[in-house]
Amino acid sequence: MSEPTSTAANQDVDAQSDGGSGLISALVVLAAAACVVLLLWVLGNARQDPYLKATLDLQGSADHGGQLFRINCAGCHGLAGQGLLGPNLIGISQRSSDPRVVHQIVSGETPPMPSFQMEPSSMADLLAYLRTLR
Ligand code: HEC
Repeated sequence: MSEPTSTAANQDVDAQSDGGSGLISALVVLAAAACVVLLLWVLGNARQDPYLKATLDLQGSADHGGQLFRINCAGCHGLAGQGLLGPNLIGISQRSSDPRVVHQIVSGETPPMPSFQMEPSSMADLLAYLRTLR
C-alpha cells in the first residue's frame, strides 16, 4: 500500500524538476474553475425555483392583493396588517425580501400560520399589496 504512494511522490518530484510550477498553476486554475462552477450553481438554484421566478416576473395588482389579504391573512395579521395573533406586517417588504416572504406564505413552516397555495399571479398581487403596508 505504501509503494504506490512513494511512486506518486517520485513522479511529483520528477514533474517538479521539469516545470512542476506548471502543474501547480494548472491545479490552481482547476480549483478556481471549480469554485466558479459551484458559485454559479448555488446562484442558479436560488433563481431557478419556477414558482418564485414566475411570481417575481409579474407586476402584481395591489388592489387584488388587498382582497386576498383581507380574506386570507387579516384574521391573524389584522385588517391593516397591524398584527393580531400574527405579527405586524407593516414595513414587511422593507424588513424582508420577496423570496423570504413568499417562502413564509407557501411553506407552512411556522404554525399556526398555514401554508397557502396560490397562482403566481395571486402571489404577485399579494406582494404588491404587502409593499403598500408602510
Ligand atoms: C392562522 C393565523 C395566520 C394566518 C391566517 C396568516 N398568518 Fe402570517 N403569520 C402568523 C404567525 C403566527 C406568524 C409568526 C410565525 C413565526 O415566525 O413564528 C406569521 C408570520 C408571517 C410573516 C413573517 C413576518 C415577519 O416579520 O417575518 C409574513 C410575511 C406573513 N405571516 C404573511 C402572511 C400572509 C401574506 C398571510 C395570508 C396569505 C398570512 N400571513 C396568514 C399567523 C398567520
